[in-house]
Amino acid sequence: MKILVTGGAGFIGANFVLYWLKQHPEDFIINVDKLTYAGNLENLKEVQQNPNYSFLKADICNREQMEKAMQGVDTVVHFAAESHVDRSIMNPEEFVVTNVVGTQVLLDAALKANVKRFHHVSTDEVFGALPLNSSEKFSENTPYNPHSPYSASKAGSDHLVRAYADTYGLPITITNCSNNFGPYQFPEKIIPLAITNVIEGKKIPIYGDGLYVRDWLYVEDHCRAIDLVLQKGKIGETYCVGGLTEDINNLEVAKKILKILGKDESSIEFVKDRPGHDRRYAINWTKIKTELGWQPQYDFDTWLEKTVAWYKENQWWWKDIKSGTYKEYYEKQYGQK
Ligand code: NAD
Ligand code: TYD
Repeated sequence: MKILVTGGAGFIGANFVLYWLKQHPEDFIINVDKLTYAGNLENLKEVQQNPNYSFLKADICNREQMEKAMQGVDTVVHFAAESHVDRSIMNPEEFVVTNVVGTQVLLDAALKANVKRFHHVSTDEVFGALPLNSSEKFSENTPYNPHSPYSASKAGSDHLVRAYADTYGLPITITNCSNNFGPYQFPEKIIPLAITNVIEGKKIPIYGDGLYVRDWLYVEDHCRAIDLVLQKGKIGETYCVGGLTEDINNLEVAKKILKILGKDESSIEFVKDRPGHDRRYAINWTKIKTELGWQPQYDFDTWLEKTVAWYKENQWWWKDIKSGTYKEYYEKQYGQK
């Protein structure tokens, strides 16, 4: 099978490429990535020489390049996106361009190439927010109600993917997944930001009251869910994917990281809240469990500890990132430090 992965140089995409070539060594992967600030070929060092892997530096908005890349492809797994909520608040336009227009260009190219499956990787953030202290969870039937330019652009892309299935018969599947964590996550997202800040002797910036809740999933569990959907998922269907956590808020996540790194809570700094901040996410993953037999395997505490260890052992990976152009973003977002 020939798989075209978009955004394979980013966090989840790279973990997926590494996972797939281990699990399915007979398959061919072509990784299409524009290498924005979030794309890093260092993430894929161990497969660079693999004859079943190739890389194309291209923008998913480039129709000509996408049509060419799509030739002979059986399956598309579409990760490429602008993915950080705070950046979407600073500069929404590129989120619409990549996440909405880019997805539409890919859908056209996939139709033209007659691909057997277009799998779209989406987020639970399209559903909006849940109240604190409730047992409500998002499921495949939750109405869309996005609040940030990021989640609105992802919602737009989800609607387009379904529209291409209904209108043109494109064989699609979608996963809406909760917050991932693990190796190679860009240190703008809260878990790697907190870990690397503490290692550098800086504080962990916590937005607002810190009582915001995310549903955490170790990245390999997400890769396994996509694998199962590709193998056994029903064409046209959406599957919600989430973790094992029972409502852990950001303050608790920060405290766990500090404990693992042997630091006290004076390393927490409350900062200005994010506008439109979603209070709580939680996922009901019953459908993918009942229909495909998937459930998360990695518990939060153990894999948070392993993730901290990874960032401790791989400082070469993030130190370069944190001293480059990312520094300008950090200063704009959190003030001069
Ligand atoms: P990321 O920001 O780490 O990586 C995105 C990748 O896409 C980068 O390699 C970047 O270079 C590439 N890219 C961006 N614009 C592009 C363009 N125009 N053309 C080609 N490549 C482009 O993101 P991530 O966290 O790995 O997320 C991957 C996907 O999973 C996204 O679609 C995101 O919405 C979704 N998702 C993420 C999470 C999460 O917790 N990170 C959770 C659920 C869903
Ligand atoms: P983030 O990692 O940006 O993911 P998302 O917004 O897509 O869920 O943020 C996770 C949570 O952590 C969210 O509630 C916002 C909060 N947060 C902070 O408190 N401080 C920070 O510096 C960042 C980046 C996020």
